[in-house]
Formats: sequence, structure tokens, C-alpha cells
Amino acid sequence: MPIPEDRSNCPKQTWVGRDRRARRGFWGKVCDGHRPPLQKNRFMKSLALLHASQIVTLSGPKRPRVGKELSELAIIHDGGMLIRDGKIDIVGPSDKIEKSAGGAKIVDLGGRAVLPGFVDAHTHLVFAGNRLNDFERRAGGETYEQIAKAGGGIWSTVEKTRAASEADLFAQAKKHADWFLKGGTTTIEAKSGYGLTLKDELKVLRVIRQLNEQTPLEIVPTFLGAHAVPRDTSQDKYVDLLINEMLPRVAKEKLAEFCDVFCERGYFNVEQSRKILSAAKKLGLKLRGHIDQLTNSGGAKLMAELGATTADHLEKTDEQGIAALKASSVQPVLLPGSVYALGSTSYPRARQMIEAGLAVVLATDFNPGSSPTPSMPMILSLACTQMKMSPVEAITASTINAAYSLNRGDKIGSLELGKLANLAVFDCEDYRELVYWFGLPQTHAVYVRGKRIR
Ligand code: NIG
Ligand code: FE
Repeated sequence: MPIPEDRSNCPKQTWVGRDRRARRGFWGKVCDGHRPPLQKNRFMKSLALLHASQIVTLSGPKRPRVGKELSELAIIHDGGMLIRDGKIDIVGPSDKIEKSAGGAKIVDLGGRAVLPGFVDAHTHLVFAGNRLNDFERRAGGETYEQIAKAGGGIWSTVEKTRAASEADLFAQAKKHADWFLKGGTTTIEAKSGYGLTLKDELKVLRVIRQLNEQTPLEIVPTFLGAHAVPRDTSQDKYVDLLINEMLPRVAKEKLAEFCDVFCERGYFNVEQSRKILSAAKKLGLKLRGHIDQLTNSGGAKLMAELGATTADHLEKTDEQGIAALKASSVQPVLLPGSVYALGSTSYPRARQMIEAGLAVVLATDFNPGSSPTPSMPMILSLACTQMKMSPVEAITASTINAAYSLNRGDKIGSLELGKLANLAVFDCEDYRELVYWFGLPQTHAVYVRGKRIR
């Protein structure tokens, strides 16, 4: 059956409608299999991208980068790329690509810089409303914890999210998904966590699934039922509900690949977090965690003990915590946007983590309360100015290392032979300009699986 004309621009929608039966089976799985198998894109014409001032390939070892490897971008000057069936076929000097282009459609990039699409490994994509009042109160000097106690904070977003329909949540999150793509981000992780009942958490996770199916943004789902204890129940009852009802259902419906917990004073303590994450692990979910954001509770050690994939935030993590993460190869996900937006100066110790040999990741923490930004270039700017990472390190942390932290390092995060052609073209000649001209959108074009989507 031919692809309907109006769908031909969306790599996922070309699949939708072609074989409903196969689609159902396919989308039912929670893994990279959410996406159409590439051989199904047989109508796609090859594409030759030529004359990039720099192609930042990040080609290198097939594992997360550590230490000095974080500073190796493997840049090709006056570079080009041949894309076939949504994957990278050749990447190299423009003249070589031009000779191999055959009947491919040629696009002249006019001396712009090309990077892998950013991979944002920590977001809270789906929620209702906003937190403009919290924002104003913080500007007036109140802290995150004070505002939460006074009726703002996570709970206020939970109330709005519970009241919203699936369609309303979808519409708002779709707008936010477009923001990510606009900034050159092609893959994100997205957490639930603003429902906090079985019904509402499932609603949020289904919206995430739908967004993954219906937008070009690739979305990796995480269950964060342990984001806060609902006001209308006790701590112990809620932990039981999470372990005995919510997690088994999420796992059964394959609605999440990861489980996360907000391990923090006033939210879930280390013992409760251990229980919840251990139950998730038994059900086959991989683990992430909101750790040591406001206080050092020993969360980093817990994540190491449980063999978590990532430990996120880490603003208050000390040397022992860093050593524990290293011993268990847990990837730290640093979120300078939330430090900045909360008006704090307590940035995580990125330099010490890099020196300790950790495979550092940078992400936005996009959420309505502590980090209302989808912009990876803004995060890179904060990483360089506030955490003293170099632009090179920041780019590695937000592409290939982030891809490995989402279990997708073999498919995305670098521009290498056989990987998905997910990339962003920026209106600058030197990749460092992305970080240097902060606050300026510089995205010229975005490609997902070889199709231009912006
Ligand atoms: O990562 N720390 C917990 N969760 C979010 C904040 C969520 C909110 O304030 O709505 C974070 O910062
Ligand atoms: Fe978060």
C-alpha cells in the first residue's frame, strides 16, 4: 500500500496505517522496537549531506566515554554524509561523499556545523499547567521546600495532572516535544510522576507512549510513581501500593523501561527507595534515581549497591558517593538547569566526577517546577560556565554518553556507520559557538532517521 502523501514526512507515521496488525505487535513492545523496522522505509530516497564546516562525529569506542575520551569529538572538516534507509552509510570528507552519492538527493549545508541530535536523558515531559506562581515566589526569596509546604511544588502539578484528560495532557506535551526538536534534541527520556495513583500514572505513561508513536521525537519511558507521597495517603501505604500494584501493572503493560525514585528528605528515604527500586529490578526494569539533590542522604551509595544505570542530580554528593558510583559503573546525570532555576549555586562536582573516571551525562530535567527548559544548548552553557566542563566534554555528555545511559549507545549518540541518521545542523561554523552564544537559538535543520523534520 502506498504511503499517504501527508504522512511521508514523519518517519514513524509512514509505518502507521500500513499494516495495523504488525503495528500493534510492534508498538506493544517497550524498547527501541517502538520504531518502525528500518527495512520498512523502502520508499526513502538516499540523501547526501555535503559541505558541513564540521561534522562532530563522536566516533570512538563502543561504550560510554570517560576521562580524556570525553574530549575527543572526531570532527571532520568540510564533511559530508550519505544516508540510506534512515541510517548513516558513509561519513567523511565532502568530496568523497559527493563521488559516492549516485542518485541520492543532494543537500548543501553551506558551511554549517553538524552534531548528533542531542539525547536528553532526564525529563518530566508530561504534566498539566505550569508553576508560574512558584517561580514568582522563588524570585521573592522562598525556597523550593518552603513553596512545596505552602501548597505549591510537585503536589500542585499532581492535582492539575489528575484533573486533566489524556487528550489535554497529550496536547500540552506535544507542544513541549516540539520545543525539544527545535533545540536539536532528537531523543529524550520521559518520566511519569505527576499522577501518583495507579490510574493517573498509567494515564501519563500512555501519553508518553502515544507521543513516541506520533511525533518524530524518540522517547524512552521511565516510571516515577515514587516522585512524592500523595497528600491523601500515608508513606507506608503508598510504598505498598507502588510495590504491589503500580509496578507490576506498569511492567505487565510494558509502559516503562526504567524505574526512578525521588530519594530525598520529605519524599522517599533510603530504605523506602531501596524497597521500591529492588521491586522494580525484580520485574525487569532498569534503574535511575533522583539522588542527593537538596541533601546528601547516601543515595549515591544506594544506586551503586543496586547496580542502577544512572544516579541523577548529585548536587550534594561527596567524594565517597563519587567513589561508590565509580565502583559500580553508575553514570551520573548532571542537571545544572535545576540548580540555576532554583536560584542555587550548589552545582554538582562535575570536574571531580570526570577525574574519578565517571561517564558523565548532561540533561535538562525539563519540568514545570525546578527546571522549565527543554534547551540542551542552555544546559551546555551552564555546564561550561558553572561546572567548568569544557565545550567538548559537554557535547560528549549530552550525546554519546547520554545515549548509553538510555541503553541506546549502539544506535544513536554519534554519527557513525550504521547508526540512525538523527542529527542537527546549526547556524554556526564552529560547534563551540553553540555553547558560547548562550540564549540564542541556532538550529537550522533537524533530521530524524534521515528525514528532515524541522
Ligand atoms: O528533578 N526533584 C524532583 N523532581 C523534579 C522536580 C519536579 C517538580 O518540582 O515538579 C526535579 O527537580
Ligand atoms: Fe527530575
